[in-house]
Amino acid sequence: MQPKVKAAVLASGSGSNLQAILDELHGDPEIPLEVVLVLSDVNSAYALTRAAAAGVPTQVVRPRDHATREEFDREVAAVLDQHGADLVILAGFMRVFRAEFVRRYAGRIVNIHPALLPSFPGAHGIRDAFDYGVKVTGVTVHFVDEGVDTGPVIAQCAVAVDPDESLASLEAKIHAVEHEIYPETIRAVAEGRVTVA
Ligand code: GRF
Repeated sequence: MQPKVKAAVLASGSGSNLQAILDELHGDPEIPLEVVLVLSDVNSAYALTRAAAAGVPTQVVRPRDHATREEFDREVAAVLDQHGADLVILAGFMRVFRAEFVRRYAGRIVNIHPALLPSFPGAHGIRDAFDYGVKVTGVTVHFVDEGVDTGPVIAQCAVAVDPDESLASLEAKIHAVEHEIYPETIRAVAEGRVTVA
């Protein structure tokens, strides 16, 4: 049996993707991954409540407690080390790491974005695609590099924007797809079926 990959999930908000990861992957003897830590930059993130309910350790590291972004990044890395994390999963984490952090976790840090990158990067991918009037948008899972929502794509799934679509209905469709493809893709990474050159 392959040793389990120790994953840390970083989340700033509701944590519905974290929940999907916990439900689909965590605690399953067949799957070589365990979530060893949920880290947030926000005390009130509901993701922390979800982690606690699943018995997963949590930690908050707040940018305002650190003089520079590099110091914040170093503190996050120190906490990841304390928990022995070897895979970093960004799930709605609203901070951008600097080059040193990204290099340290090269090929071991993944993100999910609610649009078909490289279209509609940034914090409002669903709304920006909807407002633009595209007929197809979707979800991207990618390795993280030093840019914002850039880095090698691992998986994408298209979502049609129907003629009578509302922003709310599109958001619901996108999130449902996220909750399927993120756990599937993370499983593939944990099983060594995905690597980055
Ligand atoms: C998701 O739409 C994800 O694609 C984006 O942030 C959102 C996080 O949602 N990066 P949740 O906190 O997992 O519910």
